[in-house]
Amino acid sequence: MIEKTFTKDILKGLSATPKYLQSKYFYDTKGDLLFQRIMQSEEYYLTDADMEIFEEQSDTISNVLSEQSDYFDVVELGAGDATKSTHLLKALVRAKKDFNYYPIDISENIIEQLETEIPKRVPSVTVIGLAGEYLPMLEELNRMTSKKKVVLFLGSSIGNFESKSASLFLNALNNHLNKGDRLLIGFDLKKNPHQILAAYNDKEGITRDFNLNLLQRINDTANGDFDLDSFEHYPTYDPLTGTCKSYLISKIKQQVSVDGQPINFENNEPIYMEMSQKYSESDIEQLARDAGFETEHLFYDSNKWYCNALWKKI
Ligand code: AVJ
Repeated sequence: MIEKTFTKDILKGLSATPKYLQSKYFYDTKGDLLFQRIMQSEEYYLTDADMEIFEEQSDTISNVLSEQSDYFDVVELGAGDATKSTHLLKALVRAKKDFNYYPIDISENIIEQLETEIPKRVPSVTVIGLAGEYLPMLEELNRMTSKKKVVLFLGSSIGNFESKSASLFLNALNNHLNKGDRLLIGFDLKKNPHQILAAYNDKEGITRDFNLNLLQRINDTANGDFDLDSFEHYPTYDPLTGTCKSYLISKIKQQVSVDGQPINFENNEPIYMEMSQKYSESDIEQLARDAGFETEHLFYDSNKWYCNALWKKI
């Protein structure tokens, strides 16, 4: 079933002009490992900056959250291993807050792990995992409880959305919240273009392998015959728009077969793989207003490379 949608999406992207693949498909088992190695690479500053905010400012975040309302539950979209949110959960426990933690993730596996791991790290917190798509799971949660919510959408995940779909998604998310609910959302900030580009072009070639791994995944699960050596990783950053884009470029004119369908590549033809949008303070403000939120607080790392914005539904 999942394989069928995968194959359909892949064929749609590879039959389009220009060709593209959806970056959400990077994350198979090998892709998860490669992304972990990216986060540990010297050039990828995002994770360290984001982590610094949660390590150093979780008590402040907890205080700011508590100023507005006494009772709220914490919901996390795409929780991953929840390292960052664990810092915040601990701070909320230190502040004697009584709350449930609802991680939402598409991966059943991750949810099971969190349900056993988080209580070990943060005793006294009730963890109720929801495995599925974000918005349907929020609907389910709204049927379970009417308590105020603080929703976490961390790790610059919004960066992978094109400008229009970022607005659409945040509007839809807003519609699943009640007035006064909060959203803590992570943005990578516009900064020196060399620094940004390097984060997507690490010297070790991990990001290259991360992109090429999707071709391998197509070979393995959609009956593809990509020759990975005949594609080159090409990342770009445009300081005018703040958009980072990654492409795989065909080094030769060639035909590839996917699920029995021929796909023709010209020499130097690109596949558009991923976008990672960078934001300024006013971009963030604009996005908040477009989606029906107002900014309550902005939390920056000490270098001001990254920002976790706390928004409130108006
Ligand atoms: C997981 C979306 C935050 O865009 O920076 C890292 C994914 N891609 N290196 C990002 C990614 C290439 C990452 N996000």
